[in-house]
Amino acid sequence: MKNKDLISIADLSRSEIEEIFQVTKDLKEQHMKGFDEKCLSGKILGLIFEKSSMRTRVSLEVAIVQLGGYAIYQSQTEINLGKREAIKDVARVLSRYLNGIAIRTFGQNTVQELAKYATIPVINALSDLYHPCQALTDVYTILEKFSTLNNIKIVFIGDGNNVAKSLAQTCILLGTDFHIASPKGYELDTDFIYELKKLANGKNLFHVHQDPKDAAKNANVIYTDTWTSMGQEAEAEIRRQAFRNYQINADLLKICAKDVKVMHCLPAHRGEEITDEVIDGERSIVYDQAENRLHVEKAILKLLLLR
Ligand code: CP
Ligand code: NVA
Repeated sequence: MKNKDLISIADLSRSEIEEIFQVTKDLKEQHMKGFDEKCLSGKILGLIFEKSSMRTRVSLEVAIVQLGGYAIYQSQTEINLGKREAIKDVARVLSRYLNGIAIRTFGQNTVQELAKYATIPVINALSDLYHPCQALTDVYTILEKFSTLNNIKIVFIGDGNNVAKSLAQTCILLGTDFHIASPKGYELDTDFIYELKKLANGKNLFHVHQDPKDAAKNANVIYTDTWTSMGQEAEAEIRRQAFRNYQINADLLKICAKDVKVMHCLPAHRGEEITDEVIDGERSIVYDQAENRLHVEKAILKLLLLR
């Protein structure tokens, strides 16, 4: 991979994404046979997390350990990034101890600054803007289920947030149509859409809807995420009102293709963006998707940290 960091999907090429998927497949097959190559023996990954996490933290820690390495976790209370110490000093010092850093934070500029001054790979483990490890996992999971991305209608219902943005970029870079339905005021922002269209390179792959029923028509994949992301808690009640018709429920599934698969990055807010019936139902691939975080992150770590 030409970039030493994984900060945004837009920094990757189509062939780099395909390489991540190939390595994921190989590592997952090995793992299922009871073998994990120790290609990162002795390598140490630092995890700097300024927001809560279950999947990302645990899957990254398990990933590095299964490949022979080790992880060190630093919460915001410990590292107090930018307050106790300048980000550039954190980056410079950690680069002398570690072999890679995964960071979960608020501003994308924090991830960028850390990467600018670090001499080791920096992985975006979620920012307000992007969630690239999630999106790579999502599309890998879709490929696993359908064996192709050709003629697969992928629809995101909900907020034009970090998860939607990274998923949109991944679909577009791989030449796949991406549909999104968001309530007024919560759409993908115009600057992002402008950049996304540049990624699409003249192809008409990006489709915006306001009505979730319109978007869901014949969908093969229907995806949602929380109405209120981390850091937006003060807006939760207003958002609950704005998003109340943007729920994946049994009625919406009737409009989708018969073989529709339901996805959610988790954590889910059952009864809000998705019903119990749907997330626990036979169309849900949510837990396979969550499992694949581990396999995809192993591939990312192998490709970035082995250089
Ligand atoms: N999907 C995801 O990133 O989950 P966590 O917030 O639990 O890490
Ligand atoms: N959009 C959510 C994703 C959580 C994994 C958030 O940023 O809180």
